[in-house]
Amino acid sequence: MRLPPQHPLRPALPPDWPEPEALGFGQYLGPYLAEAQHRDDGGWAAPSLTPRTAAPVAVACGAVQYGLSVFEGLKAFRAADGSIHLFRPLAHARRLQASARRLGLPEPPEELFLLLCRLAVEVHAEYVPPHGRGSLYLRPTLFADEEGLGLRPATRHRLSIAVTACSDPPLKALRLWAEPELIRAAPGGLGAAKTGANYAAGLGGLRRAQARGYDDVVWLDAFTHTQLGEAGTMNLFVQIGDEVVTPPLDGTILAGVTRDCVIQLLREGGVRVTEMALGLDDLAAAESAGLLGTAFGTGTAARIARIVSIGDGVREIRFRDTVLAASLAAELKSIQSGDTARHAAWRETVSISTG
Ligand SMILES: Cc1ncc(COP(=O)(O)O)c(C=O)c1O
Repeated sequence: MRLPPQHPLRPALPPDWPEPEALGFGQYLGPYLAEAQHRDDGGWAAPSLTPRTAAPVAVACGAVQYGLSVFEGLKAFRAADGSIHLFRPLAHARRLQASARRLGLPEPPEELFLLLCRLAVEVHAEYVPPHGRGSLYLRPTLFADEEGLGLRPATRHRLSIAVTACSDPPLKALRLWAEPELIRAAPGGLGAAKTGANYAAGLGGLRRAQARGYDDVVWLDAFTHTQLGEAGTMNLFVQIGDEVVTPPLDGTILAGVTRDCVIQLLREGGVRVTEMALGLDDLAAAESAGLLGTAFGTGTAARIARIVSIGDGVREIRFRDTVLAASLAAELKSIQSGDTARHAAWRETVSISTG
């Protein structure tokens, strides 16, 4: 794949670019968007590159007015030999299609998604941090960019990939607030779609959690406010006795790609993983019986974050600090960095042209 002729140069890093460890997440954006337009009467147009700050978005479009927008978040890593690979891009392509279906947006073909991801990485090859010191996060966004204020499905959409160079997240130990009043999703709603409405609905809960001194929120089910769903941007896992339990994909939580990796890695390591409803009372009972082990959250941005405790204003359920989260984090990092031959199929190499 070659860069489009109007952008023959791969931009170098700006002179004041920070060290990888100081990038954090989401602030250091690449200068281009890899994009493709969709018209109901013409299908998908050929991919192109647009300078990010010149990309037009109309205020009166369906994405801004009615939230007609879905997105993905995936990462590219640099291997020890300097080559660059995307991590599980096909899984992200399929989840974007599922999100698009739920909102009635056109589903980008997998090949187009992969082509745009490769283009975004190739043009920003200099922005991918060195091996083992961070990643390039890709944010594919599919949105209705047609102007018009009437409430109706749009006929024109754009799939646009922005990138941001980021540090490896620190191994955090989180205290989570089980939100007793607000809900994020209900059966039949948007919970399983990666769409802005879920995050808009979630920010109020995050504020309430932080006001109480917690790091993040755990969303509970909409009816009984007792069953665990997911955290703000992470799926949840809890060790109880000799098994690891994670809430099921019941349509109210995101089907995390990291969740899927972790389930596979645990099972390969001989650990029993059960996808089942998990209530706060179940956790409290396991704690009293001395069966409660460690707990952790999983996500592309956070990777694996240990959970110290979950509180709901009445009780504080405390998890043990075992090696499980740290060893899974190390295992995942070695696979993502390309340091092991294991799960090589999860890595999709991006060829970077030199001419
Ligand atoms: C609400 C929510 N749940 C779970 C996840 C974890 O999903 P993944 O592992 O695919 O990043 C994310 C992050 O994308 C998220 O935003």
